[in-house]
Amino acid sequence: MYTKEIERTLAQLAKTLLGKLSKQQLLNNPEETLEALQRVIIYNDWRYYVQSDPVLSDFEYDQLFAWLKQLEQENPHLVSPDSPTQRVALGLSKSFPTVQHLVPMLSLDNSYNSDDLVDWDRKARELTGLTDIEYCIEPKFDGASISLIYENDRLVRGATRGDGVAGEDITVNIRQIRNIPLSANFSAYGIQSIEIRGEVLINKNTFKAYNDQRTADNLPPLANPRNAASGSLRMVDPREVAKRGLEAFLYHMSYHVMDKGKEEPKEIQTHSNTLDLLSHLGFRSPGKEKKVVKGIDAVIDYVLKFEEERDNLPYEIDGMVIKVNDYALQDKLGMTTHHPRWAIAYKFKARQATSKLRKVEFQVGRTGSITPVAKIDPVPIGGVTVGSISLFNEDVVKEKDLKIGDTVLVERAGDVIPYIVKSVADLRDGSEQDIIFPKNCPVCNSKLEKPEGESVWRCPNINCEAQVIERMIHFVSKDAMDIRSLGESNVRKFYTLGLMKDIPGIYELDFTELAKLEGFGKKSLDNLQSAIEQSKTQPLHRLIFGLGIRYVGETTAKTLANAIHHLLDYTNWTAEQLLELEDIGPKVAGSITQFFANADNIAVLKKLESLGVTLVNNKSSQSGSGSLEGQSFLFTGTLAKLKRSDAEEMVEQQGGKILSGVSSKLNYLVVGEDAGSKLEKAKKINTIRILTEDEFIKMIES
Ligand code: IVH
Repeated sequence: MYTKEIERTLAQLAKTLLGKLSKQQLLNNPEETLEALQRVIIYNDWRYYVQSDPVLSDFEYDQLFAWLKQLEQENPHLVSPDSPTQRVALGLSKSFPTVQHLVPMLSLDNSYNSDDLVDWDRKARELTGLTDIEYCIEPKFDGASISLIYENDRLVRGATRGDGVAGEDITVNIRQIRNIPLSANFSAYGIQSIEIRGEVLINKNTFKAYNDQRTADNLPPLANPRNAASGSLRMVDPREVAKRGLEAFLYHMSYHVMDKGKEEPKEIQTHSNTLDLLSHLGFRSPGKEKKVVKGIDAVIDYVLKFEEERDNLPYEIDGMVIKVNDYALQDKLGMTTHHPRWAIAYKFKARQATSKLRKVEFQVGRTGSITPVAKIDPVPIGGVTVGSISLFNEDVVKEKDLKIGDTVLVERAGDVIPYIVKSVADLRDGSEQDIIFPKNCPVCNSKLEKPEGESVWRCPNINCEAQVIERMIHFVSKDAMDIRSLGESNVRKFYTLGLMKDIPGIYELDFTELAKLEGFGKKSLDNLQSAIEQSKTQPLHRLIFGLGIRYVGETTAKTLANAIHHLLDYTNWTAEQLLELEDIGPKVAGSITQFFANADNIAVLKKLESLGVTLVNNKSSQSGSGSLEGQSFLFTGTLAKLKRSDAEEMVEQQGGKILSGVSSKLNYLVVGEDAGSKLEKAKKINTIRILTEDEFIKMIES
């Protein structure tokens, strides 16, 4: 796409724009400046979104972008539709018009093992009369398929697959995907118009961050990245689409028209060359993932090897696609009514299975939330046996129309927790039974409550046995008081035996009684005793987190610990005062004041203190004083060198703070690989500095 020479010129141009010329000088010569700004921004977009290797810092980028916007505002006649400022369309459309595809979007035939591939290759050799066929192999991306049309180098239409013959015109949303160029230099190859196809994806990290946010907002998580991608593509507000962090891989040229009198260049005579051309023109195509081989044995080797890498990829794939590389040969092979004969999908081991839904249990969480959990006949899916599946809440059960006795389709994608895709209603024989949601807590029988606007039923009794046990399990957990020898099973056992009734009870355990229990030798009891003893001096934020106050995660716990001397000081705080703390909104503030207004909670805290647990903020143990005093940080994406928790500790040791989300209070966002929506959000706030992991390490070291 860019020669080294051009890259150098553009880097130089960026410098000139940023440094040498004053803003005023820039604006005096709008036409030239505007073109220069556009070129530099488009170049950096490509480096950033396609190559993952930007040349400008975010601050510089934002500055150039702002200048371009201003220049265009002052000179509307100079605005072109492919200017980087024009990705975000204005106005919403309620529905997407239906559009015909230039060529029907066929699906691929599937294969599941090497015998299928050998058969397919044999047929292809018989039809072509060749002894060895050259194939191009690439991942089968598990997202939403799209078609893009470029005419005279400009993106003029983006559409969903629809039924394969006609799809929906989603051009406004396609324009939000930053690794799809708004214009591409096809004309340099004599191509006047072209339709290319590909897949829109959400990478695994972005998906996880998005679901974490949904869970925090009390919404059920989206099932998998594929659904998230196709849902995002059809949202009515393109600005929302922009926030989803979608990416696209382009893998197929379905149609093209050459300029009059122009011959087809060698770049579009084979499939692999076409993929290279697309990369060269600024698209992301399966460039480094693809492989060209001769003969089916080499194909089989590659697909088997690639399957082992499946979980290491940043995005989901569900197989490989094998394509005859030479277009002339593809034409010769042609297609059946449903599939091209020149390509086949090789599907990886299923991550879906069917099973019987036997019953639904209702679990009570530590905040009293009632979670329906489906018990199914255990089935192996992608190497793990699945028998229990969370159904999140009543709405999910209703939406999926599940009944006891149903055959259900279960999926477990990569790192995603297993979920029920649907019930197979056709297989019902009438014996299925409705799932009845309880009106009363299955453990303590209190009447369940569902606050307005929430989808989760709750047991309101904070002394409910289930809640008490879950709270204790949380209190001793690794990120809270970290009492290692007192894991979940011991908590349950000691509670059931009446040896430990509540959180203070942890510090009143009768070790002579414990010594009588089977399996508790002197050594293990000594370990337990010293772990409990050590926990008394844990930093205050761990205690606060361990109390399990609703909406108070580790970051908020740290903020709370740092703002006071003694934990009971919060009994005098108002919600307004809490709102002034970093990152605390009304919902969180409300939950904290409620907690400290409850006499039972205060009695627990006083009891803990009398048993020797530190309620005082010993500042040195939570945040050091150092060069980062007063600075706030947030980490996003996968760090290559540091563990996230170590990096956070480094910040805190030097007096800095960790925030949980991007807001104008944030000073630094440290960006690892595959950073998603946080990065997008941070870019829109001028005052946030964006650091790479290396820059962060340098900063800490200095
Ligand atoms: S080629 C005419 N290549 O798989 C063939 N498809 O059933 C055009 N897919 O609908 C498709 N990765 O959404 C092709 N590297 C890849 C692909 C791929 C994913 C999807 C595509 C298509 C389905 C095939």
